[in-house]
Amino acid sequence: MKIVRVENLESGMQLARAVYSTEGKILLNAGVILKDSYIARLRALGFPAVYIGDAEKAAALPEAVSESTRQRAIAQVRESFTSVKLGGTLSIEPISEIVDAIVDEVVLSRDVIIPLTDIRRHDDYTFGHCVNVCVLSVMMGVALEFDDLKLRELAIGAILHDVGKLKIPDQILLKPARLTSKEWDEMKQHTRYGFDVLRASEGLSTRAAHVAYQHHERVNGGGYPRGLEDDGIHPFAKIVAVADTYDAMTSDRIYRKGVTPFEALQVIRSLEPRQLDTTIVDVFFSRVAPYPPGCKVKLDTGEIGIVVTTRGEASLVVQVEYDALGCPLRKPTVVDLGRYAARRIARML
Ligand SMILES: [Fe+2]
Repeated sequence: MKIVRVENLESGMQLARAVYSTEGKILLNAGVILKDSYIARLRALGFPAVYIGDAEKAAALPEAVSESTRQRAIAQVRESFTSVKLGGTLSIEPISEIVDAIVDEVVLSRDVIIPLTDIRRHDDYTFGHCVNVCVLSVMMGVALEFDDLKLRELAIGAILHDVGKLKIPDQILLKPARLTSKEWDEMKQHTRYGFDVLRASEGLSTRAAHVAYQHHERVNGGGYPRGLEDDGIHPFAKIVAVADTYDAMTSDRIYRKGVTPFEALQVIRSLEPRQLDTTIVDVFFSRVAPYPPGCKVKLDTGEIGIVVTTRGEASLVVQVEYDALGCPLRKPTVVDLGRYAARRIARML
């Protein structure tokens, strides 16, 4: 299974995963063979990419949360955020319900390594981002052995971390170009706005509100809005900072294509320990893997192989099938490209 950008799709390709509408309904089911008309529709609806490959094999891949829960969560975040934007108050109860479902599923799948990046439509960016940050944060919370109450507080803070962006004017929020320094100053205020919205919401813990306030603070004091340093930043906010940084990089935006999960992981490593907390980055790396089993990869030696298993940074087993000159090996060799191995993956094919 691989991610193929919509502009590179060809009729005859098989969808490995279903494509969902904004309302969470299935538009095209997994296993569907693409036709030109389907591809044109995907393009018109603004999908940046889809999963292509064997749908049966894809269904066997473990997931941290089911696609239906993810879609329900996106729909709920959209509904809640829209009501706040229209001047209403944030109703915590429906958010709590969906967050409970996410936490329950992530706890049950505690040994699952997230192998893939989420694909979402441009107009779903904010909502899909909030849900993804929530899932990734809860995975880290589970790995850090947080108790149930802490996990749920972390999850609520994570799913609502960017609620303050609703108060940012669209011409700044959706500007398809670099912000001016004045616009950037306003953009930074989404942290304070979020804190205010969440503090005014009944039934929400102050810790969740502080996630919104502190998720752009950085360990070296270089973050915003208050320039807090390491010990002054709440652990929940440090976790959400890692999830937010990763997901923002791997997502397609209107003005740029997302980087691959592998590239995003390299950037995350380069930001730690000055900006991101080392312990939390290590936990994150133990839970995500940029290459799903079954995907074809090229190594930096020029060899080509198939990913067999992956356990975060600790172990990435590849069956090498072609040598550096592109000749098939008589007997494929199996190598572990763990964190300290000499060979590395250059790219996914
Ligand atoms: Fe933010």
